[in-house]
Amino acid sequence: MENYQYHIFSPYRVCPLGAHVDHQHGLVTGFAFDKGVDLWFSPTEDGSVSLHSETFEGEVSFDVTKPTQVKEGNWGDYARGAKYALKKRFELTRGIRGVIKGSLPVGGLSSSAAVLTAYVMALAKANSITLSKMEVIKTASQAEREYIGLTNGILDQACIVLGEKDSLLFLDTDTEQYRIIRKNPRMPEFELAIIFSGLTRSLVSSDYNLRVAECKTAAWNMMAYTGMPLKNLDKTFLRDVPRETYDLTRDKMPPRFARRAEHFYSEYKRVRKGVTAWETGNLTLFGQLSYESCESSIKNYECGSEELIAIYNIMRQCDGIYGGRFSGAGFKGACIALVDPSKKEAIREQITSEYLRMFPEYTDTFEIHFCKTDDGARFI
Ligand code: GLA
Repeated sequence: MENYQYHIFSPYRVCPLGAHVDHQHGLVTGFAFDKGVDLWFSPTEDGSVSLHSETFEGEVSFDVTKPTQVKEGNWGDYARGAKYALKKRFELTRGIRGVIKGSLPVGGLSSSAAVLTAYVMALAKANSITLSKMEVIKTASQAEREYIGLTNGILDQACIVLGEKDSLLFLDTDTEQYRIIRKNPRMPEFELAIIFSGLTRSLVSSDYNLRVAECKTAAWNMMAYTGMPLKNLDKTFLRDVPRETYDLTRDKMPPRFARRAEHFYSEYKRVRKGVTAWETGNLTLFGQLSYESCESSIKNYECGSEELIAIYNIMRQCDGIYGGRFSGAGFKGACIALVDPSKKEAIREQITSEYLRMFPEYTDTFEIHFCKTDDGARFI
């Protein structure tokens, strides 16, 4: 795209451990990988934004100097969302004209956070605004929560911005402290398998926001039973309720809420164990914990779909897979796995044939990709 002055690559992410806990200020882990969103752009002097997508239909155009329009329910919302969040803190005078392109099907890899991150970086560049990595994360996240309307945490944006090749991001979403932990030299080689069920759907219309509210209700229940002071629901997080309080109150709560809390506390433990496993090069244990995390997503968090659960069950029987789980919220289309690179073809064959035997309707949309960890969002 030689017609444009700049090129940003914003990777997709996977979260092997620490799922559905970022919105409750839990501990998470993740990788950025070598597939993602490319944005080529040049700044405009008059504040106009005009974008073309190689993935979605239609052109998007608006003016950064004018107030942000309401959501339109199309891909342009992500660029408008980035403008919305940046405008809360900065005056924008220059826009961008450019082209955006995604490298994998949309579904479970946080493509929304990847595009938002790219637009935030591009509009900041055009307006000579210098943002720290944490500010890029926060701005892209604010756009997704307040403009797009998903009450999520910062897991996706953090993996996309902070990720490093051959390294695991370990982030405490409460204190926002993080470590980038390089692969132990004793650890066997692995690649990431991205397994698309063929099913795609938007998170805003899924039960994602409902689960977040259920977690907060569980926290409220526990606080109320034990006389802890209550805060508004938007300031209430499971992380602020000690595990002991959960043990004392779990049987008093409606089981649905207790299951959400069970997922949170058990995932906290798994992440701690998983980080030690990663540090010591124990990929087998790390993978096993990722499988257990998925199990808890199914039983306690009750997300997933028949298709994703089927893939997960097939994965568990596959030689050469260390572990894996639903990707992202698990309401959309993909599972991820850590695999032995020498077994890739056998894994591809086994999952494809067993899955399509159960769901022949996805013959045209089912896909498996093998990817490698990569650095975070950057100018190329
Ligand atoms: C989605 C959200 C994230 C996180 C994951 C589940 O990807 O955007 O904030 O909650 O689901 O771990």
